[in-house]
Amino acid sequence: MAQKTKMIVDKDFKIGEIDKRVYGSFIEHLGRAVYTGIYQPGHVSADEEGFRKDVIELVKELDVPIIRYPGGNFVSNFFWEDSVGPKDQRKKRLDLAWRTMESNEVGLGEFAHWCDKVNSEMMMAVNLGTRGTKDALNLLEYCNLNTNSYYADLRRKHGRENPYDVKVWCLGNEMDGPWQVGHKTATEYGRLAAETAKAMKIMDDSLEFVVCGSSNVDMPTFPQWEASTLEEAYEYVDYISLHQYYGNAKNDTADFFAKTQDLEIFLHSVIATCDFVKAKKRSKKNINLSFDEWNVWYHTNQSDDEEMKKRPWQTAPHLLEDIYTFEDAILNGLILITFLKHADRVKVACLAQLVNVIAPIMTETEGPAWRQTIFYPFLHASKYGRGTALTPVISTGVHDTAKHENVTDIEAVAVYNEEKQEVTIFAVNRNTEEDIFFESDMRGFEGYKVKEYLALESQDMKIVNGAGASPVTPVEKKNYVMEDGIFTVEMKKCSWNVIRFGV
Ligand code: AHR
Repeated sequence: MAQKTKMIVDKDFKIGEIDKRVYGSFIEHLGRAVYTGIYQPGHVSADEEGFRKDVIELVKELDVPIIRYPGGNFVSNFFWEDSVGPKDQRKKRLDLAWRTMESNEVGLGEFAHWCDKVNSEMMMAVNLGTRGTKDALNLLEYCNLNTNSYYADLRRKHGRENPYDVKVWCLGNEMDGPWQVGHKTATEYGRLAAETAKAMKIMDDSLEFVVCGSSNVDMPTFPQWEASTLEEAYEYVDYISLHQYYGNAKNDTADFFAKTQDLEIFLHSVIATCDFVKAKKRSKKNINLSFDEWNVWYHTNQSDDEEMKKRPWQTAPHLLEDIYTFEDAILNGLILITFLKHADRVKVACLAQLVNVIAPIMTETEGPAWRQTIFYPFLHASKYGRGTALTPVISTGVHDTAKHENVTDIEAVAVYNEEKQEVTIFAVNRNTEEDIFFESDMRGFEGYKVKEYLALESQDMKIVNGAGASPVTPVEKKNYVMEDGIFTVEMKKCSWNVIRFGV
């Protein structure tokens, strides 16, 4: 007899409204994200501007409302002026973050234009590594102002009359990291971030700012970095960034699936730190969370290090091209559920990244674009996870793994879309040994029936997709029962489940 999990879904148990920007992503000038990723003149699918239409279609399928750009570590030595104006006059630059050559063939204007094609908004990062407030102000004037002043006029001269109207600005990237060009102490950075945001707000007070938190939870300066940075910048910023990548280097699937326990602790710690500074400052404002880099990333670490060391200054080399397994997709599903469980504070999140570089979408230079395994949980969450996140009232079994105790078997959350009269349960059975009997009490939603039940299931944790074959694709399930408002199903071990109800 399979173990049993019981869930109650009720529209009055609200966590909060889901900000659609939790389904954001990230394009950095890194590897083949831009060149031969989103942009490849001469490719059979290229449009008149050189953008790959096959990639555009897949990005549109994911429905990504916001895309962070242009880095990442890249931004810390980025000179935005090199990326605008006539293409034939653009300077080639050395990118110190990834030891590659940046042609600047695609720059700010082209990227903004591509964002329009994929129905996304741009989330712009400014260089606070090798540059500072003055250059950020110039960039803001170029992007957002309608004045008759030098940089706004320059944008017009470059053929763009209307401002780009970028609303969300990242104040640098991972400034706590010793690897960052222009790395700073928390107080140095906090002062710079505060002064930069303050001055930018004078130009445009409708902007929202993301201040850099720690590069990951294991940084020795976490969480003091967050506290010290916010001490300086609290009143000028709206979000603090979190970054975290996971891996399964020890090849222990059960323990890998337990890693969202660590993510929970990370989120709680950052929220507590923000609220501590809020209390200290007697502030009425909350700082929310921008989890603007998250994913699995470990498959290519070693080969990437060798590539950058042995063959520096290439243009668009194959870097960070992790090929994702089935189990990576399950972990990503668990991460998305965790974000939704914190919908009241996690307002922005960016799957890092979007194309070719640790990405759900891959391209063959001479061939098609294709969907990685991790494409699907993100697709489902983005498509069906809009509305109000409902508190998961769940009783489920627990198990221990190598590094985690009391790991819940089933992780789940429900999303209520009042406008569409739909409820969707996202659930993962992360028990690697057993299928689990899952019961959900839906009586709070009278008259609702199952519209669709999609799942990702596999016995093979290491199976991957490729350009030619996609063994990891969602299947439609029919083996459930819905009776008197109670939904039941035997949920496969190691599976991602999307159960959609509607009237
Ligand atoms: O996403 C890849 C890199 O990871 C980013 O450039 C950096 O911010 C992080 O360390």
